[in-house]
Amino acid sequence: MSKPLNIDRLRKEFPILKTKINNNNLVYFDNAATTQKPIKVINALDYYYKNINSNIHRGIHSLAEIATKEFEKTRSIVKKFINAKNEEEIIFTRGTTEGINLVANCYPKKYLKENDEIIISEMEHHSNIVPWQMICKEKKLKLKVIEINKKGELDLNSFKSLITDKTKFVSLVHISNSLGTINPIKKIISICRDNDIKILIDGAQASPHININVQELDCDFYVLSAHKMYGPTGVGVMYGKSKLLNEMPPYMGGGEMIKNVTFNKTTYNDIPYKFEAGTPNIGDVIAFKEAINFINEIGKENIQNYEKDLKNYTLEKLQNIDGLKLVGDAKNRIGVFSFTIENTHYYDLGLLLDAKGIAVRTGHHCTQPIMDKFNIEGTTRMSLAIYNSIEEIDYFIESLKKIINK
Ligand SMILES: Cc1ncc(COP(=O)(O)O)c(C=O)c1O
Repeated sequence: MSKPLNIDRLRKEFPILKTKINNNNLVYFDNAATTQKPIKVINALDYYYKNINSNIHRGIHSLAEIATKEFEKTRSIVKKFINAKNEEEIIFTRGTTEGINLVANCYPKKYLKENDEIIISEMEHHSNIVPWQMICKEKKLKLKVIEINKKGELDLNSFKSLITDKTKFVSLVHISNSLGTINPIKKIISICRDNDIKILIDGAQASPHININVQELDCDFYVLSAHKMYGPTGVGVMYGKSKLLNEMPPYMGGGEMIKNVTFNKTTYNDIPYKFEAGTPNIGDVIAFKEAINFINEIGKENIQNYEKDLKNYTLEKLQNIDGLKLVGDAKNRIGVFSFTIENTHYYDLGLLLDAKGIAVRTGHHCTQPIMDKFNIEGTTRMSLAIYNSIEEIDYFIESLKKIINK
């Protein structure tokens, strides 16, 4: 059951929202780049370093045991958050980028051969393009690209027409960080299943906003970043089906990922540790669980409902501004709005908004192929999160109008 949110109370959990920027209240609309952190995440990090800092998994002293327990608790909470079958399917990474690189390096080594084909789309973040280009070059694989239409939606016919008997892997963004488009990934995964194709979903933008259920989706890999979901930077998750993770070779070699090392032969550890070489980002992983607790306490349904209202409100206001052109007009979308303004460069607009305390992002948003598709160099991007308010949106729209009409 959804319930109305007390946004004033919720905002108080974010100390940074009291900050003044250029003598104005901070209005933070750069949430697709990174979200702000609630006090419980900040406190957890502080507590870790003040009280339980220790390396994990290999110590028998009390601190090592406590830190290990706290670290592994996050794995268990992540497992529930995305409904994975078991904890060994949850690999901690530095973020979405590392998760994709891990799969792009390890999966093809085990399963792909020369001339096999990998499909991505025109709306991918650079981190879901470049790792595939690199491995395709190295292993002589072919990279194919699904087209998007003028609204910034995936063209499913284009996808189907790309599939051949050599197509072995699809890597696709769940929600576009530039266009806000929510992709029909269930449909796409089902097409992959029918054609015996494995699929990775880039959930960097989806994980803070919509419910993720990897078993129901039946995707093979799902990657996300903690910092985009109210958690710390430097932590991410790569979910993979255990059968694949067991069969894939490790990504990095080093401590933790081994069972036994001699100069003749090294045996690897079981999953998830096989993919977690070296000392991980312990404190941030521990603090990440508080970010998930924060989301769980509000509830994904409540988050979706509130953010949907914010999104619809913003969309209507933006559509009524003369000279403003939205880039991407997907029917199914979240509150990420890229736009251009006639006769105003996005950098200038970003600076003028900053003077009013409003943080937006400007540029190509690590999606240059989308910019090429729409024949532009960059946009101004405004992106919403759970702590944003209608008052902030009104202030933003008024500020935009003043800048445009000057
Ligand atoms: C859709 C998408 N994929 C991947 C990434 C990369 O995430 P990170 O920089 O946290 O690794 C981002 C970051 O903006 C993104 O929006």
